Amino acid sequence: MDKLVIRGGNPLTGSLTVSGSKNTALPLMSAALLTDGPVTLTNVPDLKDIHTFRRVIEVTGTTVDHEPGHHRMTLNAGSLTDIEAPYELVKRMRASFYMLGALLGRMGKARVSLPGGCAWGPRPVDLHIEGMKALGAEISLDQGYVVASAPGGRLSGGCMTLDPSSVGATINIALAASLARGGSIIENAAIEPDVVHFCHMLQAMGARMNGVGTRTLEIEGVDRLEPVDFENCPDRIEMGTFMIAAAIAGRPGSAIEIRNGRTDHLGDAFLEAFKWTGTQIKERDGVISVVPPDELRPVNVTTGIYPGFPTDLQAQWTVLMARCAGNSKVHEIVYPDRFKHIPELQRMGVNAIIVGDEVMIEGGKPIQGTSVMSTDLRASVSLVLAGMVAEGETHVLRVYHLDRGYERLEDKLSGAGIDIERVRFDEWADPS
Ligand code: EPZ
Repeated sequence: MDKLVIRGGNPLTGSLTVSGSKNTALPLMSAALLTDGPVTLTNVPDLKDIHTFRRVIEVTGTTVDHEPGHHRMTLNAGSLTDIEAPYELVKRMRASFYMLGALLGRMGKARVSLPGGCAWGPRPVDLHIEGMKALGAEISLDQGYVVASAPGGRLSGGCMTLDPSSVGATINIALAASLARGGSIIENAAIEPDVVHFCHMLQAMGARMNGVGTRTLEIEGVDRLEPVDFENCPDRIEMGTFMIAAAIAGRPGSAIEIRNGRTDHLGDAFLEAFKWTGTQIKERDGVISVVPPDELRPVNVTTGIYPGFPTDLQAQWTVLMARCAGNSKVHEIVYPDRFKHIPELQRMGVNAIIVGDEVMIEGGKPIQGTSVMSTDLRASVSLVLAGMVAEGETHVLRVYHLDRGYERLEDKLSGAGIDIERVRFDEWADPS
């Protein structure tokens, strides 16, 4: 295992570059299974989750030519024969559950392990399963696996309403519906940029869809989809993380540039809250400049589905609020108990307490470096942000969580002035 060692106090300077979106690359890879020819994806981030999902896809017999360093991947499902997604891999990465919709759509049957939970609690997939049933699939559970089949070998299509609106369920149902015999309607569909970009790829492959980017997604099934080459979009959560990093650790009045990102993918709620902190955002020629104020203002936020405040930026926002002179509240309503970072931040001196589904933060307290434990992807990056402005050294353990969603983060931050390095570390070795 590795850890990151951060010596706090250096200002963030210069520029940061956003990689391709993890949460978009995964559905794009799934869509490649819907056709029998080569699909080349570009701007694919080099992340653990991408490597894991590649292995899940290869189990089916699909060939994947992956060039991580070039952020490119060519998938050819012409050789797809196996309709199983095994527990050993699905348990590592929840989005593997997209195999259900992809295999049902392409092959008319699937045997996919239930994904299980994650660090902050249960992650149900009832909407995914109900959606497949609405499309005509027969579903049974067998030893922790979802066993699905389409009568006559092809789904009929159908209608369903998502409550709550779900990114994963929208994607999974759209994967299956694209090759169904008839039409389908998804009411209260997710409209996150990840979902919209994924739908654009399906349309480029020949899928017939109306209402992309709206809450009513209509899909007319077609007999086949064609291979395409398609570019992934930038990672909006990494973009938001870098904007918060600039506000936290940048020099007041000095611009930090963020390249290859898109602020319009963050949604108005985040952009408005960010500006209310007093931090300036300027955009020119695809480069976003973030200019921290002399004094950050506290801003209360409540997470929500797009274009609401992204739950994936909630932990990072808490660290920003800890740097403000004043008190604030972060209200998490998408996931219960997505607060595993709070006890670790408290160990660093952050005055934050959990009250129900809210975190109350008293800003302005000094943050001290110490050893802290990553628990999940976004919690771990919040610990890195705190370490950047902590007094002394911060050791962030179990960075394999971080590696799931941030490509070479330590290289990007050290290239922008932060004193951070990755160190081999065996946390189970007897303390010397
Ligand atoms: C996606 O997860 C993202 N993951 C998550 O990012 C993100 O936090 C989430 O969307 C919300 O934006 C990927 O795209 C791979 P949901 P997903 O289904 O699809 C409930 C990260 O850090 N729900 O939109 O699993 C669910 O419990 C990850 O990159 C059901 O009740 O999220 C939650 O309360 C973490 N039944 C709400 O819907 C279901 O069948 C939204 O979840 C499915 C979901």
